[in-house]
Amino acid sequence: MSINWKAAQNYEELSKLAADIFEQQLQENEKSVLGLATGGTPEGLYSELVQRYNDGKISFEKATSFNLDEYVGLSADHPASYHYFMDTHLFHKVNMRRDSIHLPSGDAEDLQAIAEAYDKKIEASGGIDLQLLGIGVNGHIGFNEPGSSFEASTNIIKLTDSTREQNKIYFDSIVDVPSYAITMGIKTIMQAKKIVLLIAGSDKQGAIDHLSSGIITEDFPASILHKHTDVTIIYTGVEKKN
Ligand code: PGA
Repeated sequence: MSINWKAAQNYEELSKLAADIFEQQLQENEKSVLGLATGGTPEGLYSELVQRYNDGKISFEKATSFNLDEYVGLSADHPASYHYFMDTHLFHKVNMRRDSIHLPSGDAEDLQAIAEAYDKKIEASGGIDLQLLGIGVNGHIGFNEPGSSFEASTNIIKLTDSTREQNKIYFDSIVDVPSYAITMGIKTIMQAKKIVLLIAGSDKQGAIDHLSSGIITEDFPASILHKHTDVTIIYTGVEKKN
């Protein structure tokens, strides 16, 4: 099955369309295993989900979550860490149970062991039902940078200069941006039953051009999504040319 492309009029609509998919998922199965993402793009989706939770439309009480990635070297209480991002944008605002929330730890001593245990935990949970993704300007999904193996499970990766540059807005200066991250691998991501990718903003035009070309290559990690059977891409502020 090919990718289901959905154009949104604006960022607000993109966030609502994405929230509809999450709402439907939670309504169909309150025990859903959700794969979550960080970054500027999903912020609107998370506020929409918090709104719907406050309105009594959705509950996270029985859901489980696994986040895509975390910076190596940042503790959970570092304001630029993805633990902190998720707490402030979602977890502290909804009824998700603490022991159902999973993010790879970026400041553990044995990161390799953390990575291996992460995949096992995902498997033990029954696998991810719905995985949210953003995309880097270089085509990364999670922190799987260009050249990452399509066969990789959760692993530790060196961040590219372009990714560090893209993310420096969350730090005091570029030297503070970590050089490594721990990320769900491409293989792990592809095992999700359903995937929704959000693309917003003209700086992602190159990424959408690459993706819509249909060429599958490890040099552009998101291109693997063409091989998945249930992917929806919601986009705004970019043009899909073919
Ligand atoms: P962004 O990041 O949502 O902040 O653009 C997406 C990504 O790099 O995966």
